Amino acid sequence: MNKNRLSKTIAAGLNLQMTNEAHASQIYLSYGAWADNYGFVGVANFLFRHAEEERNHMMKIVEYILKRGAEVHITSIPAPPEKPENINNCFQAIFKHEVENTQEIYKLVKMSLDEEDWATWNFMQWFVKEQVEEETMVLNLLNKIKIAGGEKMNGNDLYVFDKDLEKTTDEARSAIDVTAVNP
Ligand code: FEO
Repeated sequence: MNKNRLSKTIAAGLNLQMTNEAHASQIYLSYGAWADNYGFVGVANFLFRHAEEERNHMMKIVEYILKRGAEVHITSIPAPPEKPENINNCFQAIFKHEVENTQEIYKLVKMSLDEEDWATWNFMQWFVKEQVEEETMVLNLLNKIKIAGGEKMNGNDLYVFDKDLEKTTDEARSAIDVTAVNP
């Protein structure tokens, strides 16, 4: 009996998105290490925690593919882009990446709609909602950076911004508490 409940196209799309989420995790990890090197402890903590969150997104897709009886294909993960030039550039790059990820998610939603795969369509709605939250979160940080002077932020501005992120750490969802079921 064939237990596979995903079409070839949907399974390929989900496998691709699984790697996209792993790629997103590597980006946050790489930028977090960059921030830590420059002493931005608050920014680094925020980015490291988000790297974990992206990995949880990846696991959520792995679990769904398996639950639907299809095969998971683990491939190499593309390298993250170049290190950012400054804090403003770092969050601009993150926002751009989140928007690109949203577009990939929309492709999967469209694919599931076209194939009338309502289970996958329903599964993907969680990601649609999550992307709205993530884009808003990064946009809010970009607004703070803009108010503080954007590219022209001085040492004091950067210190305050970093402290601000450090302070919000405990209030934000901790990766430790996050599961693949509830990322
Ligand atoms: Fe898993 Fe930031 O998207």
